[in-house]
Amino acid sequence: MSEAVFRTVKASQVILKELMVPAYANFGGKVHGGVILGLMDKIAYTCAASHCKGYSVTASVDSVDFLNPVEVGDLLTLYASVNYVGTSSMEVGIKVESENFREGTVKHTNTSYFTMVALSEETRKPVKVAGLLLEDEEEIRRFVMGKLRKKLRRAHQKEIEDIRQMLDLDLNQAMKEVEGENCQLSKS
Ligand SMILES: CC(C)(COP(=O)(O)OP(=O)(O)OC[C@H]1O[C@@H](n2cnc3c(N)ncnc32)[C@H](O)[C@@H]1OP(=O)(O)O)[C@@H](O)C(=O)NCCC(=O)NCCS
Repeated sequence: MSEAVFRTVKASQVILKELMVPAYANFGGKVHGGVILGLMDKIAYTCAASHCKGYSVTASVDSVDFLNPVEVGDLLTLYASVNYVGTSSMEVGIKVESENFREGTVKHTNTSYFTMVALSEETRKPVKVAGLLLEDEEEIRRFVMGKLRKKLRRAHQKEIEDIRQMLDLDLNQAMKEVEGENCQLSKS
């Protein structure tokens, strides 16, 4: 049997910097949220690939709350780190900051967690990833929080699925749920 492999968190940490050019602007003149999401997906992949030394896919993205708008001309910096690994999944934590040189300010734009799953390039099935070698208290804390978020994600998915199945079976309950909401039933 081959020996288990462990890699440090630092070995796969990634920093990505990108200047927010005019082509990234939305109709309001601010940077399009999709540009930031695209960069987050890119850094999540880079970080996960560095840890597992192979191919992975994005399985899920936790909520992304944009705390501050990003301006054209800002320098965006993304920091990514593997917080937690399961058998084939890796939770990558991403923090995004934007720096405005003219004002001399750095703002926290958003933080999110991407779950990446390592796949075999031949079979496209999930494969085991290296373990994490935790080197300090902060890394232990992040690992435990990642483990907790994995449990909560599963519970959340199950709850939504249970409610969906219940509404499929019980149209009366679905009718009660729409009462008082910002919708109208079509008469046709
Ligand atoms: C992600 C994917 C590989 C999971 O496949 P699966 O057959 O459900 O795999 P399993 O049930 O064996 O789960 C494998 C791992 O993925 C995790 N996982 C599966 N679905 C998940 C989800 N929706 N969110 C978070 N983690 C998930 C499991 O918790 C498990 O982790 P572990 O091995 O560390 O315990 C599959 O759903 C897939 O290919 N999705 C499409 C991904 C994609 O195309 N992404 C966008 C382009 S990159």
